[in-house]
Amino acid sequence: MNGQYGDSTRSVKAAASQHVPGQPVASPPVPVSAYHLSADESQPMDTYGRSSNPTWRQLESALAELEGATSALSFGSGMAAITSVLRVIVKPGMTLVVPADGYYQVRLYATEYLAPLGVTVREVSAADMCAAAESADVVVAETPVNPTLDVVDLHALGIICRSRGATLVVDNTAPTPLGQQPLSLGADLVVASATKALSGHSDLLAGYVASCHAEVMAAVERERLLAGAILGPFEAWLALRSLGSAGLRFERQCHNALAMALMLRDHPAVRAVRYPGLPEDPAHAVACAQMRRFGGLVSFELADAAAVHRLVERSALVVSATSFGGLHTSVDRRARWGDPVADGFVRMSLGIEDTDDLIADITAALA
Ligand SMILES: Cc1ncc(COP(=O)(O)O)c(C=O)c1O
Repeated sequence: MNGQYGDSTRSVKAAASQHVPGQPVASPPVPVSAYHLSADESQPMDTYGRSSNPTWRQLESALAELEGATSALSFGSGMAAITSVLRVIVKPGMTLVVPADGYYQVRLYATEYLAPLGVTVREVSAADMCAAAESADVVVAETPVNPTLDVVDLHALGIICRSRGATLVVDNTAPTPLGQQPLSLGADLVVASATKALSGHSDLLAGYVASCHAEVMAAVERERLLAGAILGPFEAWLALRSLGSAGLRFERQCHNALAMALMLRDHPAVRAVRYPGLPEDPAHAVACAQMRRFGGLVSFELADAAAVHRLVERSALVVSATSFGGLHTSVDRRARWGDPVADGFVRMSLGIEDTDDLIADITAALA
């Protein structure tokens, strides 16, 4: 199905309920902690809400479909999904590579919790990922990296990891499966926060793991059961409901991002811009080879922190918020959180507003 349809058709079909006459077209959530048990104890069945849920199953089959995976598992947040995978596949004595320039809490988890258990943790920037993979057991790559938006060549990285039996885990949060399918490029597992563009309304946290490796997925499911970092049924339902419009929203977000990057590139108040969709961006060639769309994030640099605060004050459309991928265009001054970037560095998440309105608003706010 993936090759056959466009993104909106794929997301609508993935989120659709089964065509059963008399049943709701839009599936209702199934909030449940305990299920009736059969007297036949050998019969496979739902038993308890921490081990299975019908709404999860629907969401997970939609996510697997979109990622081109044989299965997916939902979690209570992106971090819950990522750390579950790390607990399952990273063992003491192994070397783990994590992004030095990507989402900072992943490297914090690795250094604060895995390093003391005897794991060698190497923090590596996108540009050095392939070289670092030559001596790694597990590689976590994020591309485009949040917030600098550099791109990792997943095809090249996949070849290196496969040649030495290392496991490649790719964080697909920013591009979403509508922008990039890491499993088709050589990743063993996809991990992602569905809190961002995939659910897209800034009203829930969710995460998932997707893969074609049945054994690893069974181990991750077991870990989820025992650690309990599950997604609530209502959040699962909200995420499923949001998936149906993901293609449409993401298309507009990507369109707005390119228009914004082009405007910022030529604006005198802007010192530098990164967007993989800009033809002159250093990552453009690799991005073209592996991304279907370039995403809704644009990074740029203003003179200092005060210039970023002025931009937010003067804009009538932009909100100041961390997180990204929502309906509203938002900006986040990343140095605030300790990212190794300049004080005036801004990560802008493009929303679904009309492109002309956004460009006029930001142009005026920067003047
Ligand atoms: C790239 C990336 N991965 C993972 C996460 C963690 O996701 P969550 O906040 O849903 O736990 C984030 C959060 O910002 C992120 O940006």
